[in-house]
Amino acid sequence: ATGLLADRRGRRLHDLRISVTDRCNFRCTYCMPKSVFDRDYAFLPQSSLLTFEEIERVVRAFVAHGVEKVRLTGGEPLLRKNVERLVERLAAMRTAAGEPLDLTLTTNGSLLGRKARALREAGLRRVTVSLDAMDDTVFRQMNDVDFPVADVLAGIEAADAAGLRPLKINMVVRKGVNDHEIVPMARHFRGSGHIVRFIEFMDVGASNGWQMDDVLPSAEVVRRIHEAFPLEQIDPNYPGEVAERWRYADGAGEIGVISSVTQPFCGDCTRARLSTEGRVYTCLFADSGHDLRALLRGGADDRSLEAAIGTIWRARDDRYSEIRSAATAGLRKIEMSYIGG
Ligand code: GTP
Ligand code: 5AD
Ligand code: SF4
Ligand code: SF4
Repeated sequence: ATGLLADRRGRRLHDLRISVTDRCNFRCTYCMPKSVFDRDYAFLPQSSLLTFEEIERVVRAFVAHGVEKVRLTGGEPLLRKNVERLVERLAAMRTAAGEPLDLTLTTNGSLLGRKARALREAGLRRVTVSLDAMDDTVFRQMNDVDFPVADVLAGIEAADAAGLRPLKINMVVRKGVNDHEIVPMARHFRGSGHIVRFIEFMDVGASNGWQMDDVLPSAEVVRRIHEAFPLEQIDPNYPGEVAERWRYADGAGEIGVISSVTQPFCGDCTRARLSTEGRVYTCLFADSGHDLRALLRGGADDRSLEAAIGTIWRARDDRYSEIRSAATAGLRKIEMSYIGG
């Protein structure tokens, strides 16, 4: 494949985010609200999921197009049976330049205590843990399954001890729900070496009842933390980095803010997403994907798989966060648990 693949806006293909299961043991109110994801909700049957062999083939085809960064997500990826076997396969892959992939995983942390070592041994480099509050009552309300914050903190410790460092901790900020937890989160992780990122609540999916009033702009997050612990902005690690970086003036580490609502970053969005059942989505807010599973199961060879990905990417024109408005509010959108955060 060509190393010069670009979409209609000149954006390269650099990251692949893979949802390995649409299930989760949490019911975060902003992601999988119980009212929708209840006992009767039809999750995908096992036969619909891409197998690890199939995922590996797809990743290989994406790597041929220049992908260097791969993130496993879900749902909760650690619920996928033997996910460390998939990690092993992906950790063994090399980019065109002969480098290992930047391989990581986004988890709610509930199973990390049990799985961190095995993941590390399988070749995982680092992890990102979602954590929306330090306060146990607020945290239990947000995950809506009464899961204690202490168990997630223990999972973070286990990941740290296993060498999955530095950890990133993602907090989705919902005004009026957990915004009073911003400064406590910053305080807790200052000096730990872990990087907390504060994420503006987005209108992803169709079931979380998003309203602009629920969004606390990142500028306000930075202002509040700066008041308690002075901050200075620092340069991105690479062009197109999603998080804006700030460091503590006293040297206690850094934080990030992800502002997809108030400061969209579609202009250099290099991310493709692979759903649990093998559809490629070229935007988090896309309403339909491109079925690779049919190709895989129809006996397509590697060249035609690569060609299909090239065709999908070259046609890509998405920039949802830049055009978000009253007019886009009613569009059909895919759930984040299906497409992968
Ligand atoms: P790192 O290299 O680990 O920093 O990865 P990252 O910066 O891509 O961060 P991560 O994958 O943890 O993403 C954090 C959050 O940013 C996600 O949970 C989303 O809420 C948001 N996000 C990530 N990618 C996109 C994107 O392409 N579009 C939008 N709108 N939001 C995104
Ligand atoms: N807005 C912003 N981030 C979200 N996530 C899930 N739903 C949303 C949303 N509506 C993020 C969570 C988690 C990752 C899986 O996706 O923080 O870190
Ligand atoms: Fe599960 Fe993460 Fe969604 Fe919460 S945000 S329901 S932990 S996938
Ligand atoms: Fe990329 Fe779509 Fe997110 Fe914009 S809204 S940054 S195009 S995934």
